[in-house]
Amino acid sequence: MKKLTLSGTSTRSDIYIGRGILDAVQAQCSEVFSPSRVHIVTDSTVAPLYLERVQAQFDLPTSVTIIPVGEEHKCLSTVEQIYHDLLSVGMTRKDLIIALGGGVTGDITGFAAATFLRGVSLCQIPTTLLAQVDSSVGGKTGVDLPEGKNLVGAFYQPRLVLIDPDVLNTLPESTLIDGMAEVIKYGYIADASILDLLSDYRANLEELIYACVKIKCDVVSQDEHDTGLRMILNFGHTIGHAAEKLGNYTDLTHGQAVAVGMVTAMKLSNAMGAPCDLLPNLVSQLKQVGLPTELTYDREAIFKTLLSDKKKFGATVNFILVRTAGTAEIVPIEAETLHTFILDL
Ligand code: NAD
Ligand code: GLY
Repeated sequence: MKKLTLSGTSTRSDIYIGRGILDAVQAQCSEVFSPSRVHIVTDSTVAPLYLERVQAQFDLPTSVTIIPVGEEHKCLSTVEQIYHDLLSVGMTRKDLIIALGGGVTGDITGFAAATFLRGVSLCQIPTTLLAQVDSSVGGKTGVDLPEGKNLVGAFYQPRLVLIDPDVLNTLPESTLIDGMAEVIKYGYIADASILDLLSDYRANLEELIYACVKIKCDVVSQDEHDTGLRMILNFGHTIGHAAEKLGNYTDLTHGQAVAVGMVTAMKLSNAMGAPCDLLPNLVSQLKQVGLPTELTYDREAIFKTLLSDKKKFGATVNFILVRTAGTAEIVPIEAETLHTFILDL
């Protein structure tokens, strides 16, 4: 089992990664929490797979909220349901909330934990690759509004994150592949050695997860509240979010959108400075894991959609460019320059 620590401005997350850690949840929790009761939030797919295995470890009173599967349930009414469940069992601020599931469960539960009684201790147990390498670490929590994704939320660090790569064995193939987009992203923005592990990524999953989480910890420890460096984690996400939105969040999965977004950002990296030769490798790595590389949406629509994205500042858009594998740059690009580039794609 490997350990990483994320030091926030006033908080600390201990992150453990290891096969079989799901059977040591109670033991790990008892190192850092002293609750009188534990409430577990999970979803209706993960519950039959892993809930009992986690719940049975506690000799304290435990209770459960099982939320329906799907991004459409990442909303305030689900959070409200969790609050009611917490109140009905008498949870206090000294107790513990566990999020057991993918990024949707983690984001909702994190937000409920951040806001219930102004903050209850939180342990994240991520069960998708995306949640293991990205969403469970770093303290971004929240829900969607009808107007858009992740519009309500809080920065709230989980005190403990327990990552068991074995739970990925039950993931549908497409969901695993989706998470690989974020893994490839980390390789380009911060650690090119990740890219060497891609050809046999299934065999290298534990090592890949550790390398990605280490990067996330390093970045978030330096910029917990996303005012500077943390933006590098959005490589491929600016165009990706626009494509996701244009496809009504159904045509493309998040990972597929990030994949085509990274290809576009790499073309922009080439266009904006000294040409680099990373594009062919990126395209073949994405194809190799089964991710798309072609942006199929109308270019004008992509431009308009990304301008409405929350990462636009004034007349410029902050773009993450990569000209050397393992190094990212945050480059403000004039909206008109970007417009011309996108129309020429
Ligand atoms: P998800 O939580 O919907 O999980 C995907 C599917 O996999 C679900 O059907 C789920 O039930 C199922 N599943 C989960 N674990 C399983 C397992 N071990 N075996 C079998 N099935 C399993 O989606 P996701 O891709 O994990 O997360 C997407 C969400 O994460 C989005 O809402 C996104 O906004 C959010 N996100 C948050 C951050 C952050 O920093 N907080 C970062 C990236 C993404
Ligand atoms: N997923 C991007 C971030 O945590 O900042």
